[in-house]
Amino acid sequence: MTDGLTDALVAAVGERDVLADDDLRASYETDWTRRFHGRARMVVRPGSADEVAAVLAACTAHGAAVVPQGGNTGMVGGGVPRGGEVVLSLGRLRELGEVDRATAQLTVGAGVPLSALQAHARAAGLDAGVDFGGRDSATVGGMVATNAGGINAIRHGTVRARVAGLQAALADGSIVDRRSGLLKDNAGYDLPALLVGSEGTLGVVTSVRWRLVALLTARVAALIPLPSISAVAELLARVRPALPSLHAAELMTDAGLRLVLDHLGASSPLPRSAAAYLLLECAALADPTDELVTALDAAGVVDAVVADESGERERLWRLREGHTEALNAAGIPHKMDVGVPLSALARFAEEVAPLVERVAPGSRTIVFGHLGDGNVHVNVLGPDPEDEAVDEAVLRLAAECGGTISAEHGVGVAKARWLSLARSPQELAAMRAIKRALDPDGILNPGAVLARD
Ligand code: FAD
Ligand code: MLT
Ligand code: ZN
Repeated sequence: MTDGLTDALVAAVGERDVLADDDLRASYETDWTRRFHGRARMVVRPGSADEVAAVLAACTAHGAAVVPQGGNTGMVGGGVPRGGEVVLSLGRLRELGEVDRATAQLTVGAGVPLSALQAHARAAGLDAGVDFGGRDSATVGGMVATNAGGINAIRHGTVRARVAGLQAALADGSIVDRRSGLLKDNAGYDLPALLVGSEGTLGVVTSVRWRLVALLTARVAALIPLPSISAVAELLARVRPALPSLHAAELMTDAGLRLVLDHLGASSPLPRSAAAYLLLECAALADPTDELVTALDAAGVVDAVVADESGERERLWRLREGHTEALNAAGIPHKMDVGVPLSALARFAEEVAPLVERVAPGSRTIVFGHLGDGNVHVNVLGPDPEDEAVDEAVLRLAAECGGTISAEHGVGVAKARWLSLARSPQELAAMRAIKRALDPDGILNPGAVLARD
């Protein structure tokens, strides 16, 4: 038996790409962390921007809510249904256009995974300018929608800096297209900029004009053990001015490293454990090893593993990138991706674990993150997935430290209730007005970013 909406969706994308069976829908209904899930009314997989627009027009006509979904690697529950929405999966939008070497740009479909974009750019002697552990699944559309950060934001900025323009379908089924790639184009409001980081609540990104960066193949990494998180921040402050080739500056703690080593069945590359670790990577056209070693020597570092060979570097990166998977294997983590000014990092680091222990006694707190960006990932194992007490406590602490409740993962549904900790009433009113203007019926990702009234 079908209804009017199903008929309209089948007319828009064809029967094969409207998934109504429980088995076929299942993988779209639960997020990567398993904390967020809900039943989809159906899953629709358009193959072009016009089909995306037709799906949105049909959903608007039938008053059906829509959850856009890319690779479903998001960490804040914004890409999975909460109950009864249509999941709009963008994975079939796989265009990988020719690289324009003069502008270092290309046009790329929303459903292209990051690793495919990277490989394509590298084959042309350039690079994507973004990297993180979810690269094989996270899509261009999802990265733009979340304004993803990752390990190289310290060098190239977040995904916002990569977007020279984009094409998107709006809730009413119209398409806006600004992919000329003109870096200077001040003709009116910047709609693409508004869609970056909007988490599927203002429009559906279908294609992006992507700015590439130089391909830097000469690389060196170093893992440095230190007595505390604040010592890690202090060391970074000392070496950063001497490292023009700095490409990544990541924080790990002993609890996190041990969890990853156990999960991988690996041994530590260091002879002794320490409370915290700084993982640095430098990248340049010519070998940056001397630059890194000189900076570490000048800062008085005596104990470090320096990896200039690619296998050794990958081994160090596996320890950092393995955190997400090791945490997931140990339970369903509460993931609080916060940003804290580096000047307040010592206070935050000192207070967060005791705070979690008070709110959720017996739980396990693992802290890691993109130190250079002040981006701390606080992961808590133990509390029930539905229990939000620990989330609220950590987000409040970040705000009290002058930070933000979301550094790179977005707000999604996980943090919508606490957006006022990071944004003023005036900003929230402006956001709601923008939402009403672009999505008057509220069909796009309801409850994500802006909590339901
Ligand atoms: P999804 O999870 O499918 O969706 C995320 C949000 O974007 C949802 O709100 C969804 O509605 C919306 N959306 C998706 N596609 C579109 C579209 N085409 N148009 C409009 N809205 C859309 N994130 C970081 O920022 N930095 C990291 O270092 C990082 N590391 C990670 C490591 C691992 C191992 C994993 C699993 C995830 C990591 N993430 C990281 C989180 C995640 O990969 C990013 O948030 C990514 O940008 C999500 O992309 P996606 O295609 O999976 O989006
Ligand atoms: C990371 O930096 O590894 C990601 O943001 C994923 C995570 O927080 O688990
Ligand atoms: Zn991260």
